[in-house]
Formats: sequence, structure tokens, C-alpha cells
Amino acid sequence: MKHFLTLADFTKEELEEILTLSLKIKTETKNRVFKDYLPKQVLGMIFEKSSTRTRVSFETGIYQLGGIGMFLSSNDIQLGRGEPMSDTSRVISRMVDMVMIRTFEHSKLEEFARYSQVPVINGLTDDFHPVQLMADYLTIIEEGKSENLVAAYVGDGNNLAHSWLMLAAKMGFELRIATPKGYEVKADILEKALSFAKISGAKITVGNDPKAAVKNATVVTTDTWVSMGQESQKEQKVKDFKGYIVDDAMMKLAHEDAIFLHCLPAYREYEVSTSVFEGKQSKVFEEAENRLHAQKGIMVWLDGKRND
Ligand code: CP
Ligand code: NVA
Repeated sequence: MKHFLTLADFTKEELEEILTLSLKIKTETKNRVFKDYLPKQVLGMIFEKSSTRTRVSFETGIYQLGGIGMFLSSNDIQLGRGEPMSDTSRVISRMVDMVMIRTFEHSKLEEFARYSQVPVINGLTDDFHPVQLMADYLTIIEEGKSENLVAAYVGDGNNLAHSWLMLAAKMGFELRIATPKGYEVKADILEKALSFAKISGAKITVGNDPKAAVKNATVVTTDTWVSMGQESQKEQKVKDFKGYIVDDAMMKLAHEDAIFLHCLPAYREYEVSTSVFEGKQSKVFEEAENRLHAQKGIMVWLDGKRND
């Protein structure tokens, strides 16, 4: 059995297999062909943080695959009142066929997976958001940007930045990350990515100069400066992230055909200007839709590995 906790756990070939499956099912869905890939399967969806895209895409996705999603907010289940992850996992995984969790510490997700009898999918932790990056890469393929890809991530060294590191390291493309000083990516995650990059040929650079990062990039991306759980840091971060907004001047430095991606929700005039967000180069809503398609591929692929 396989879980989907971080992209670090997958080979390039496995990720390509999942993406191929996602694209195939997307084509079927677009033609209004709904096949029961996961008949009668129940996806438990545990949320310890808010969500729009993750909830709607997983719930719609599992339904279109022949199953059903069960939304479990930690406010409503005993987990929120202190029942341990290990017990929650041992109970829920005896009743459902797959589980998706959005939580805080990555170790809590790992604990759930350790005790689970069914595949577990990371729906975002403080350290990683791998399902988002599968949707992002699907968008990159569809936009014709996967060849000679040079991606620039400008902003906070957070779960999205870490996931970009793993995607680049596995797929073997060039990634430049620019964060303000003091907001760098975690050193152990960077080290792991660099070790994978030696195998894949990925070129990864991290620094504190957003303009240098976006120069001639073919994909420019950013994320909120204030992630869920960091609300009290907003005032300080807004000061520290001065110069990190992806605006027209920043996009001009990128390749003229570059696309702009953002996992959403976006905070206009903070990490991205309204003009870039609403502009021609922005593919953020194609990217958001691809959450649905990417995750169908992930669920069907994991189902196929149940007895491995
Ligand atoms: N991008 C993303 O995961 O969005 P939600 O927080 O709305 O799920
Ligand atoms: N970095 C953001 C991503 C939201 C989808 C957060 O963790 O809140």
C-alpha cells in the first residue's frame, strides 16, 4: 500500500504515471464520461484548517469516480477534543477506503498514516502541499511549459516552496526560490531536494533576490505571505516582504511567454498585483480546476497500489 504524503516518496516515473492517469480521466470528464474507477469507495476528509479548493475538489472527485466523500472537520470530531491521531486513524481507517488530511505539523499526518489501514493523502501540512503541485505540474504540461522549464518561486519559504523544491528535484527542472531573509525554506528539506536533484539533473537555487529569480523564468509563482496558523505574524511579514510582490514590473523580467501560477487563495496587492492576477499570463483558475483532475489520478493510482 502507498500513501501520498510528499513528492519525495515518489520516483519521476511514478509521478508521470499519475499525471498521465489524471490527464486521461480529465479528458473523459470533459466529455462527460464518468467511469466508476472507485465504486462505493468512501474518502474520509479530515480538516484541521479551512479550505475551499481542497474540500470541493476531493469531494467532487471521489463522487465522479463512483464513491463518496465524508467531510470531517476537526471542530466536529473527537480529534478536536484531544482524541489522539493514532486512535482516530485506527478507527476511521477501518471504516473508509481512503483518507485525506489537512493538518498542522507534518508529523501528525505521518502518525495518522503509520496507523492507517488505507491509503492516506496529504491535503496540506505546515511543511508540504503535494496535491497542489501535481495540479500545478498538470497546468504546466497543458500550457506547453514542461520543456526547458525554468520556474521562479517568489515569497515565503513555506509549504508551497517546499513542495516546489520536491517537484523540481524529482522532475528535473530548474527552480529558483527567492525569499526575504529570515523566511528561507527549511534547511533539511532543501538538503533532501538537492540530493534528489543530483539524480534528476534539476538545477535548484535559493536566494534573497526576487528579480534575479524571475529573470527569463517561464513559470512565475508565489503564495500568500501569511499561511494558515500564522495570522498573528501578518503585520511583521508585510513589512519584511516589501519588494516581493509579483507585479507587472516583476513579470516583465520573466520570459515574455511566461505564465503566472498561484495556489490560491490570493491576497491582491500583497504577494501579487491585481493586474498580474487578472492578466493574460495568469493561469490561476486553470490551475485551480486541475486540483480536481490531478487528485482523481492520485486516488485511482493509490487504489491500484493497495495490494502492492
Ligand atoms: N490551494 C488550496 O489548497 O486551497 P484551499 O485552502 O482553498 O483548499
Ligand atoms: N501556504 C498556504 C497555502 C494555502 C493553500 C497556507 O498554508 O495557508
